This record gives sequence, C-alpha cells and structure tokens, in this order.
Amino acid sequence: MESVKRVAVTGAAGNIGYAILPGIASGGIFGSDTPVRLQLLEIPPAMKALEGVCMEMDDCAFPLLTGLEATDDPRAAFEGADLVLLVGSRPRSKGMERNDLIRVNGPIFVEQGRAIQQAAASGVRAVVVGNPCNTNCLIAMRNAGDVPPDRWSAMTQLDHNRATAQLASKAGAAASDVRRPIIWGNHSNTQYPDWSFATVNGRAAPEAIGDRSWYENTFIGTVQERGKAIIEARGASSAMSAAAAAVQHSRYLFQGTPDGDWTSMAVLSDGSYDVPAGLVSSFPVTCPGDGSHVIVKDLGMDAFGKERLARSVQELAREREVVADLLG
Ligand code: NAD
Ligand code: LMR
Repeated sequence: MESVKRVAVTGAAGNIGYAILPGIASGGIFGSDTPVRLQLLEIPPAMKALEGVCMEMDDCAFPLLTGLEATDDPRAAFEGADLVLLVGSRPRSKGMERNDLIRVNGPIFVEQGRAIQQAAASGVRAVVVGNPCNTNCLIAMRNAGDVPPDRWSAMTQLDHNRATAQLASKAGAAASDVRRPIIWGNHSNTQYPDWSFATVNGRAAPEAIGDRSWYENTFIGTVQERGKAIIEARGASSAMSAAAAAVQHSRYLFQGTPDGDWTSMAVLSDGSYDVPAGLVSSFPVTCPGDGSHVIVKDLGMDAFGKERLARSVQELAREREVVADLLG
C-alpha cells in the first residue's frame, strides 16, 4: 500500500460533488493501491446536506477511504491536501454564458487561493472546475503566494471528451478509437475544438471523416455549446460527465497520460502558440505522472486554427480585465 493521499473537494454537497466522491474514493485518481482521505468543504447553509453525503459515503464502505472530514472552513479543508478540487461555486442557468458568473464566483477563488497557500501540502496540485474555470484558476493562482503556478490547472477535459465522442460518432467508431483531439483557449463558447492532429483508428481524423463542412459548421459549434445544450435538456448543468472528467484530469496528473498521447488542460501560458504568457488557456499537454504537465510544442496550426484560438484568447484577456481587482 502507498501512503495516504489527502484530497480536498469544495462544493462537495453540490451536483458535481455528489458525482465525484465515489470516483475518488474508489481509486480513480491515485490508483487501487493508494488510500485516500477526503476533506470536504461547503458553505454553512449546505453543511446539513453535506452531512447526508458523508453518511452515504460511509455506507459505501470504500476499502481505500481512510478518512472523511466535512467542514465550512477552507483552511481546515485544505490542511495537508495533496490535491484540491475547486468545484464549489455557482453554476450558470438557462440563458447565461459562463463568464456571466465571473463577479459572483471570482471572489471565492481569492479566499481559497490564499487558504491553499496557508494550509495545503507543499507539493499540492489544484484543479479548478468552477466556472468560468480558466479565469477562476488565474485568480486562485495569483492569490496563492508562493505556490508555484505550474501546480494549477483548470478543466477542459470535459470538452476534450465531448470532441472525442463527436468524432467517434461521426466516424462510426468507438471513443477509444479516437486519439489526440485538442481543446484550445477558454472553457467557453469561443473555445477551439481542433481535429487537425486527431486520429481515428490510426488514420488522420480529417481524412477518416472526410467532411470539412461538418467540421466547421457542426462539430466545432456542438462541442462549444454542449454545456448549454445539457442545461437546456436537463435543467441543470453537466455533473456526471464533469465529475468523470475531473477524475480523469487528476488521474493524468498523478498517473500520467497514456504513452505517446496527450490530453487538453487549461494551464498558465508560457507564450506558446502566441497565447500571451500570464493567461490560463487550454493547450494539448502531456503528463509524466508526477503531478506536472508539459505543453505540447510546435504543432503546426493552420490559419483557420490560429484565428479561432486568437478569438478565444481575446476573450480570456477581457475576462482578466474584468477581475483585475481580484488578482492579488
Ligand atoms: P451546484 O450548485 O450543484 O453545487 C455547487 C456547490 O458549491 C453547492 O453545494 C454550494 O453550496 C457550494 N459552494 C458555493 N460556494 C462555495 C464556497 N465558497 N465554498 C465551498 N462550496 C461552495 O453546482 P455544480 O453543478 O456542482 O457545479 C459547480 C461548478 O462547476 C459551477 O461553477 C459549474 O458551472 C462548474 N462546472 C464546470 C465544468 C467544466 O467543464 N469546467 C463542468 C461542469 C460544471
Ligand atoms: C459544462 O461545460 O457543461 C459546464 O461548464 C457547465 C456549463 O455551464 O456549461
């Protein structure tokens, strides 16, 4: 048995919280040999609901779950945490864009960035799910003092999986036959889901699918607007798929991306692909499995892709201006 990993989850009584806890407690992030201790954060009005979630977690009797704590104090929740999943925040409802939440949710990430610096393990990794997740990640990172920026990421794994599913369906293939799509930019409707480097059963996706018009007029918009379509259909934002993606994102960080493969994560730009350094943007990344990520460099983007990415980056820059007072 490996040593116990401490995982903090914020908003643990919410929809994603409810869906994510079993995946963490059954080894989905650190593997089946690593016990986990869960440290769950909620706001005071949701503590009663969180108590119920904890009762259910007890009743699952997960063999790997060695501890379970519920609190409304961020510092207690983040104490010694190896991984912090920042989920707790308001979801959008029908008719809203994700960045309409920026002034409501942004301040949460100021406080929680500070609390991570004060309390988490020295090697902590923080994954931001709460929307607008790229800019919330920037806010938390900028308020976390000496916690290095490469410890932070925001989740575009769900968009990556949506792109995978759409390509598989169009090609008449299984999701597991599709590799290397890319989500560039913001987790918003300006994101650029890119098939240029994707393969289906080893063939280049553009060639295997052979329908550029579908790519430009259907695929990109479907992936960009999938969150909205789910809200319209379900009356609530994605939770099961978001929880599965957050577990997968975290597993890649701690156990690595599959050999020769990449995934998509929003991370602090180093200037790659003309994304200005200092913005948190989605890129193709590989993970060696030690908690770090590496941006895949020097992919030759075509003019169409560059223009799409630039549009999303402009939106990220605008979001950063809107929260300038929260950036620490
Ligand atoms: P939810 O409303 O069901 O749950 C959110 C929970 O967070 C609530 O229980 C609430 O009490 C709690 N909370 C609010 N403020 C908090 C704070 N300061 N500290 C701790 N907890 C707090 O929402 P949900 O469906 O679980 O979604 C959570 C967030 O995740 C939303 O912002 C949503 O837009 C986002 N999301 C992101 C992605 C993505 O791909 N990045 C996907 C789905 C949802
Ligand atoms: C999603 O992509 O499903 C989430 O970001 C929720 C939303 O608001 O769309």
